[in-house]
Amino acid sequence: MYLLVNTGVSLRCGNCRFLTMELVIASNNKGKIREIREMLQQVQLLSLQDIGFTEDTPEPWHTFEENAYAKAKAVYDFCGKSVFADDSGICVPHLGGAPGVDSAHYSGSRDDEANLQHLLRNMNGVADRAAYYKAVICLIWSGEVHYFEGTCEGTLLEHKRGTGGFGYDPVFVPAGYELTFAELSPEIKNAISHRGKAVRKMVEFINERING
Ligand code: IMP
Repeated sequence: MYLLVNTGVSLRCGNCRFLTMELVIASNNKGKIREIREMLQQVQLLSLQDIGFTEDTPEPWHTFEENAYAKAKAVYDFCGKSVFADDSGICVPHLGGAPGVDSAHYSGSRDDEANLQHLLRNMNGVADRAAYYKAVICLIWSGEVHYFEGTCEGTLLEHKRGTGGFGYDPVFVPAGYELTFAELSPEIKNAISHRGKAVRKMVEFINERING
């Protein structure tokens, strides 16, 4: 049986009639959960709320890998189910890679709009507007730890455009496009985004594991 995940990737399940794979997503970020759900529709994706996990997951480290692992491990220790966590952010070479792992609280608050405005202020008058999003997924699958990475290159606008997406999307134009991530459809964003790339790599891995 093939299960079509709307990333274009198929999940094959040997002799199963139905594939009821349970996978916990270790995030409370609504924008991220919505995007990942759109890409993993045929998998039974459990939220932290579904499993009754109410603690604040720690993100104390300096790399996406370490933060993703910390989040996934905290939830795995709590429920013992297969779980994945994504740590992501926007990196600006002119700012030495900032905000990077601090993207979610760059302005000192966890407010998306305040963070975006802080980035625009720090880039005020800067000609080199290159930026890239990066996502690292840590998957704990049957107790084993695996990492999947995706990046998406682009440039930063000086003013916001569009209402879709979340976070820094209204000022990020992916390479090869003229519209921002907040103006492009969710389908296009998922097809080219850092998170879409990392999720597809994870889906391919899970597919291989399921089929032995
Ligand atoms: P964390 O992975 O929960 O630590 O936070 C990721 C942060 O990076 C988000 O809160 C956003 O500020 C930013 N970010 C990551 N991916 C995206 C994206 O696809 N669009 C816009 N902002 C993003």
